[in-house]
Amino acid sequence: MTTLLFNENNPKQLLQAAELIKNGEVVGMPTETVYGLAADACNPDAVARIFKAKGRPSDNPLIVHLADFSDAVNYTSYIPQLAYKIADKFSPGPITMIFPKNDRIPYITSGGLDTVGIRIPAHATARKLIELSGCPIAAPSANTSGYPSPTEASHVMLDMNGKIPAVIDGGKCQCGVESTVISFDDDNTVRILRPGFVTKEDLLTLGCEVIVDNAILNEVAEGEKVSSPGMKYTHYSPAAKVTLVEGDSESFSAFANKNKSEDTYFLIFDNDILDNDCNFLTYGSNSTQQAHNIFSCLRRLDELGAKKVYVRVPDKNGVGLAVYNRLIRAAGFEVIKI
Ligand code: TXA
Ligand code: MG
Repeated sequence: MTTLLFNENNPKQLLQAAELIKNGEVVGMPTETVYGLAADACNPDAVARIFKAKGRPSDNPLIVHLADFSDAVNYTSYIPQLAYKIADKFSPGPITMIFPKNDRIPYITSGGLDTVGIRIPAHATARKLIELSGCPIAAPSANTSGYPSPTEASHVMLDMNGKIPAVIDGGKCQCGVESTVISFDDDNTVRILRPGFVTKEDLLTLGCEVIVDNAILNEVAEGEKVSSPGMKYTHYSPAAKVTLVEGDSESFSAFANKNKSEDTYFLIFDNDILDNDCNFLTYGSNSTQQAHNIFSCLRRLDELGAKKVYVRVPDKNGVGLAVYNRLIRAAGFEVIKI
């Protein structure tokens, strides 16, 4: 199969993409977070095609994308009042809320769970595609399972060429990291399962309790029960061996000098300075920029043939927690403190 590259500004091609989805096919879709692999969430055969294209473990559930939060009642059996408050403030946007599912969501979509993650993307093309398709859209990130998430159409093409019929090019994703995933411990308590652009501090403004799940920053032990299946799997890893290095600009520079080699790269902040003969990429000077750049940098390091990558640890506050969470997984939890 040749994978077609559609332009989001071409109405005919958007209609064609919606037709593909109606026919049970999978289409690469831009969102404000990362690109997704979109298919009809209520069609088990279509959803099976997503799992196949990604090589994704069957127990890892897919997020269901809707054009409007008012539609969520049609796929869930209970929505706490707090969820409506969260939706009012942060949706459409980079947040996924987990609710008990109803029978319209097949178990293949929910990875065998009795719950479903619902997200209303802010990206106009994603919402248009959902409306044109006339169905809820299941969409995991559009990378090969385990590899960094795609933030440009070309990344999706690299991973999915020949595996899906089309990718819609919507340019670079604004956020660059996936949505914040939350569940509800009770009617007034939110649990963050994956950090993203909607932060703990943002959620606290609604007057609810917010728990940051332990698995966000710590490695899950073999056989340990997790709140979200995605927490168990290796993630975001380029081919290069990634290690995080925690220290200030000066000590990182000294570390780089000692550890430089032809196929070793350093991923640093924009204002860090390294010796001329150190290979490096920069990933921004604040958390928002670092979130925007992190996945494309990890992919670029593979293109450059990096074998070892040392990353200067980002700030862990606010959106920085999302960047750190992706990096620590890419690094298989290897952190050096200098
Ligand atoms: O920003 C995003 O969320 C992107 C775009 C395409 O919307 N999608 C995305 O999907 O990141 P995916 O499948 O790559 O990550 C979804 C994460 C997984 O870690 C999964 O385990 C968790 O959310 N998840 C989904 N449904 C869940 C559920 N019912 N219970 C617990 N965790 C769930
Ligand atoms: Mg993913």
